[in-house]
Amino acid sequence: MDIEQIRSDFPILSTTVYGKPLIYLDNGATTQKPKCVVEEIENIYYTTNANVHRGVHYLSQQATDLAEEARVVVQQFINAGHSKEVIFTRGTTESINLVAHSFCQQFCSQGDEIIISAMEHHANIVSWQLQESIRGIKLKIIPINEKGELILDEFKKLISPRTRLVSVTHVSNVLGTINPVEEIIGIAHSHDIPVLIDAAQSVQHIGIDVQKLDCDFLVFSGHKIYGPNGVGVLYGKEKWLNLMPPYQGGGEMIKTVSFKGTTFNELPFKFEAGTPDYPAVIALATAINYIKKIGLDSIKAYEDELLRYCTDELLKIDGIRIFGTSDNKSSVISFLVGNIHHYDMGMLLDKMGIAVRTGHHCAQPLMEELGIEGTVRASLAFYNTKKEIDQLIAGIKRVASMFG
Ligand code: ALA
Repeated sequence: MDIEQIRSDFPILSTTVYGKPLIYLDNGATTQKPKCVVEEIENIYYTTNANVHRGVHYLSQQATDLAEEARVVVQQFINAGHSKEVIFTRGTTESINLVAHSFCQQFCSQGDEIIISAMEHHANIVSWQLQESIRGIKLKIIPINEKGELILDEFKKLISPRTRLVSVTHVSNVLGTINPVEEIIGIAHSHDIPVLIDAAQSVQHIGIDVQKLDCDFLVFSGHKIYGPNGVGVLYGKEKWLNLMPPYQGGGEMIKTVSFKGTTFNELPFKFEAGTPDYPAVIALATAINYIKKIGLDSIKAYEDELLRYCTDELLKIDGIRIFGTSDNKSSVISFLVGNIHHYDMGMLLDKMGIAVRTGHHCAQPLMEELGIEGTVRASLAFYNTKKEIDQLIAGIKRVASMFG
């Protein structure tokens, strides 16, 4: 990979903060956008702006065609069997909420159980807790070991005749652990239990094949895969999506509406109420095409090398504690140094131009489990370099020396 060439596609990477060159290591929170993505959005608004699926006129047809082509780009990217299994949402959070609401309405009653894990993002906890209060379902939690890996033997013990769905993250946004989702899906399916995979932190790093995984649902966000904000994806097997009721009403999700009753549209439109953010949908396809051109295999190999390098260098720092030490990790390193508060570390690194995330990372139950309030998190992308990691390490050492 020609990293300098790639970096030149991301204008923000050559800017400065506080007069220092920006070192952007907060890619788990959101990724930067290549020029082609931003230009695509501008292009749509200047040349093709019209509401999709609603007009017989030229512009509406054009916009509709582009948005539906984007659906096929996503379908092929995750190897879904059919484009109608790809639903556009506002992001991972909305995708999970959609499944939680609609799946539970159809398939769950009081006392039924959903299994999640101790390393979930709040989106994959609270969406189900809302269903706990609405429908009286119960949450069961897969525990983690000291390396930050799911304990599969404990998972097996949690499965009961009342288990209705398993919903787990592919890659932890805090620990970086890549979970053995094939195995989890295999175990769940041997009990006829469907599985949702939260791919928000994996789809940009690891090639996803939903048919090979055999997951029942898979969700991710556009903004974490170098695409626009406000757009995300829910993949669902047709057999489930057909049985699930709509999540929201209005717009393209209807077939007929009368005061006597309403009939619903077919997939995928049944789940796409209201005017979608079609410029974002189209630009998401542009982002996917951009990373496909670089190649996910090359991206993974390069990011793995950066992760190893960053981990090795961090481990040389006195008093460092890394949270998440699995051998199977992706692009995320959470750490603390001595007694230095994560906010102090984050704020001082920021003054050196280094952007990292600090705090609980929307995973407070995991923090509770780890017995800490928060961490400093460096999350890597393919446009980062070893030189930037050297600067991060130098920055951390400087902060550590300030605190004695
Ligand atoms: N979920 C995002 C993160 O981990 C915001 O930073």
